[in-house]
Amino acid sequence: MSNAVAQWDAVSVTCGADEVEIVSALLFAHACLGTEERESSDGGAELIGYFEHGCGASIVEALGSELGALAADATLQRQPSLRPLTIAAGDWSERWKEHYGATRISGRLVVCPSWESYVPEDGDIVVRIDPGMAFGAGNHPTTQMCLAALEEMLTAHRGRCSVLDVGTGSGILAIAAGLLGADRVVGVDVDPLAVSIARENVRRHSLEGVVQIRRGAALGTAGRWDIVVANLHTHVLLELAEVLTERTEPVGGRLVLSGLTGAGAAQVVPCFAALGWTLVREDRRADDTQGPDPWAMVILRR
Ligand SMILES: C[S@@+](CC[C@H](N)C(=O)[O-])C[C@H]1O[C@@H](n2cnc3c(N)ncnc32)[C@H](O)[C@@H]1O
Repeated sequence: MSNAVAQWDAVSVTCGADEVEIVSALLFAHACLGTEERESSDGGAELIGYFEHGCGASIVEALGSELGALAADATLQRQPSLRPLTIAAGDWSERWKEHYGATRISGRLVVCPSWESYVPEDGDIVVRIDPGMAFGAGNHPTTQMCLAALEEMLTAHRGRCSVLDVGTGSGILAIAAGLLGADRVVGVDVDPLAVSIARENVRRHSLEGVVQIRRGAALGTAGRWDIVVANLHTHVLLELAEVLTERTEPVGGRLVLSGLTGAGAAQVVPCFAALGWTLVREDRRADDTQGPDPWAMVILRR
């Protein structure tokens, strides 16, 4: 799967070494999928941001004017230089694997790259993932917070419940739900490549009888679910608020929303509150890409 003939678009931004946080926050605000930091030849920093193929040109234009505005109001010390790059799929999808190993997410859940051997400890539930070109390796804070929430909720339910995973990517959350004992799981994604990668990962766990992966959006998925998990961008969650509400069981149903920063959560929570949802909990987790506003996950109930 990881040999798909897709390409990534990438944008290189050279900035001051102490400006990396601001610039990476801006890249992630434009749906950047990951960043790589290098030292630039003038002692500053070079940030490479990776984007879905086809997004590069419009992002370079938008970033150019936003970075220009930050330099003009002296938030940045100088005008950063910006250049588009096109990266062959193999380059990035292979390089990041060097930093990717088995990770304990919470009490029982461990995420392990499918090509690594890992000897489970007593009681471990191991999700063995090859994300290929899909999002969902298990190393992103938003994925990890959703995994921990699923473990907590499914353990409380003793597994007897249904889960809808909107934006399944590699299938990681859907598979974890299946391994944690959910009796019916559907993962949906609008990206056909993610769908085939997720199906392969489901097969790897012999979960085809429990976890179905479908191409499409939540809109096209009939029925109601005890838990709906959606690790998506803030604007997509806001657009899907009514659909996600319709897809969740009105009595006892829970929504787990991530892909947010704290600022995103501050928009999403009132939007869902207007549809009858109450905040159960908001978790925050920082990483070295997100700058001063850490990643967030919210759990909502009716
Ligand atoms: C951030 S990734 C999350 C992957 C995985 N669930 C995880 O938590 O690591 C978001 C995924 O949502 C998909 N997506 C974006 N908008 C969507 C929509 N409206 N309906 C379904 N999937 C969507 C993208 O293709 C991408 O695979």
